[in-house]
Amino acid sequence: MPNVPASPTIQNLEAAFAGESMANRKYLYFAKQARALGAIDVAEVFENTALQETAHAFGHLELLYPKAELTVAAMLQLAIDGETYEYTEMYPKFRHLAEQEGNRAAVSEMDQQIVESKEHAERFAKTLATAAKRFAALAKVEEKHANHYRETLAHHKGA
Ligand SMILES: [Fe+2]
Ligand SMILES: [Fe+2]
Repeated sequence: MPNVPASPTIQNLEAAFAGESMANRKYLYFAKQARALGAIDVAEVFENTALQETAHAFGHLELLYPKAELTVAAMLQLAIDGETYEYTEMYPKFRHLAEQEGNRAAVSEMDQQIVESKEHAERFAKTLATAAKRFAALAKVEEKHANHYRETLAHHKGA
C-alpha cells in the first residue's frame, strides 16, 4: 500500500483497474455457469468480453506501474507488499467482522485466504532473495571481466 496519498487520478485509475479486473473474473465465472446451463452462445459472449476487460485493466496498469520502473526486484517487492497487506491487515479485519456477523462460511474462507496470502508473500520473498543472489553473482563476474580488461589494456599501454 502506498504511504503517500495518491492523486485523484491515480485513485481513479486504481478504482478503474479494480473494476475492470473484477469484470474479467466475474464474466469468466458467469461464462462457466452459462456453459453448465447449456447456454454456450451466452458463455462465449461472456468469455470474449472478459478478454477485452483484461485489456482494459492492463491499460490502467501501464499508467499505474510504468514499465520503466518495473525492475524484477521492484515487481517482486510490490507483490510481497500486496500479499503481506492481505494477510496481516485486510483479511484479519474482514475475518473479525465476519465473525461478529456470525457468517461462518466467510470466516473460514478468510482463514484460508490468510494462509494462502502468507504462502504467496513467502514464495515471492524467496524468489526475490534468489534473484538478488543471482544479480550479485552476475555483478561479480562483470567486475572480474572489467578488471581483466583494464589489466590487459594497461599491459598493452605499458608494452
Ligand atoms: Fe471494460
Ligand atoms: Fe495471493
